Amino acid sequence: MPGLPERVTIYEVGPRDGLQNEPAIVPLDVKVEFIERLVAAGLSIVEATSFVHPRWVPQLADAAEVVARLDLAGSVPLPVLVPNERGLDRALEAGCTHVAIFASATETFAAKNLNSTLEGQFALFEPTVERALAAGLDVRAYVSMCFGDPWEGDVSIDQVVATGSRLLDLGAGQLSLGDTIGVGTPGHVGTLLDAFASADVAVDRLAMHFHDTYGQALANTLASLQHGITTFDASAGGLGGCPYAESATGNLATEDLVWMLDGLGIQHGVDLASLVATSTWMADQLGKEPASAVVRALGVA
Ligand code: HMG
Ligand code: MG
Repeated sequence: MPGLPERVTIYEVGPRDGLQNEPAIVPLDVKVEFIERLVAAGLSIVEATSFVHPRWVPQLADAAEVVARLDLAGSVPLPVLVPNERGLDRALEAGCTHVAIFASATETFAAKNLNSTLEGQFALFEPTVERALAAGLDVRAYVSMCFGDPWEGDVSIDQVVATGSRLLDLGAGQLSLGDTIGVGTPGHVGTLLDAFASADVAVDRLAMHFHDTYGQALANTLASLQHGITTFDASAGGLGGCPYAESATGNLATEDLVWMLDGLGIQHGVDLASLVATSTWMADQLGKEPASAVVRALGVA
């Protein structure tokens, strides 16, 4: 297909977004092995865990223990989520070099996910980003509910662009646009990306974060590629969901993304067989079938 990039970066979120919604606590050893296997499979960046309040996301309460077991000095960055200065302090103490803040484009989700407001969330992020940058950390920002919100319905493009631009203005290097509940469709993706372009946000500062609830994630990825996006968030095996967003299911599966990129001749650096083996193993650990169609088609433990 004409006009597509030669290479993309897959930003793997399985250990964080993938596991955060799992009800049974995954053992520390399994989490560490999962991350190490993803790195070995060729993922060039792997989001490892979250320094959020352990009561809000009990599955990731062991964030410091996980990070302590990882090779933070290796060539593959292992970012962690931090919602506020307390989270940043914990990430700094653990020796993290890459952090991600996460904002909401809607009032209701800011309340549900951050116990804050659309405006109030910036009071959490401003000092967090300032201190993270001063400490030499790489900072990514997410904005959730970019394509629809389970409580508020449609979300205005202007509100998404305003929220996202403000996060970039704080100094975040990259902005990941989240379809938290997976309701977006390709035309909507195009309209949103055109709006960011009109607001003078360079396309190489944007990443797309699709959940696959309505089966639109790959179609939306293709639309994003056609708009020049070169970073895609994905979760091994299609694990995932947000505990504070009704009806959020798994992320775009990394294997499904890799399959499409291979078909398009777009480079990504991931070894599909090794990734499928990892997701098959992880599904066994969780005692469930992999959500990814490609893992189900190819998967043999
Ligand atoms: P809060 O209750 O308002 O916190 O929660 P607070 O600031 O009032 O503090 C209350 C207590 O919590 C204090 O302790 C703080 O020290 C402590 P006390 O003085 O009472 O002993 N505390 C913390 N402890 C550990 N780590 C921290 C922390 N912060 C405060 N970081 C808070 C506010 C932001 C902490 C809470 O709402 C929270 O943790 N939310 C996280 C929710 C979450 O993780 N959601 C999933 C990730 S987002 C997502 O999945 C979407 C994404 O994938 C993109 C997409 O799909 O759209 C990224
Ligand atoms: Mg997500």
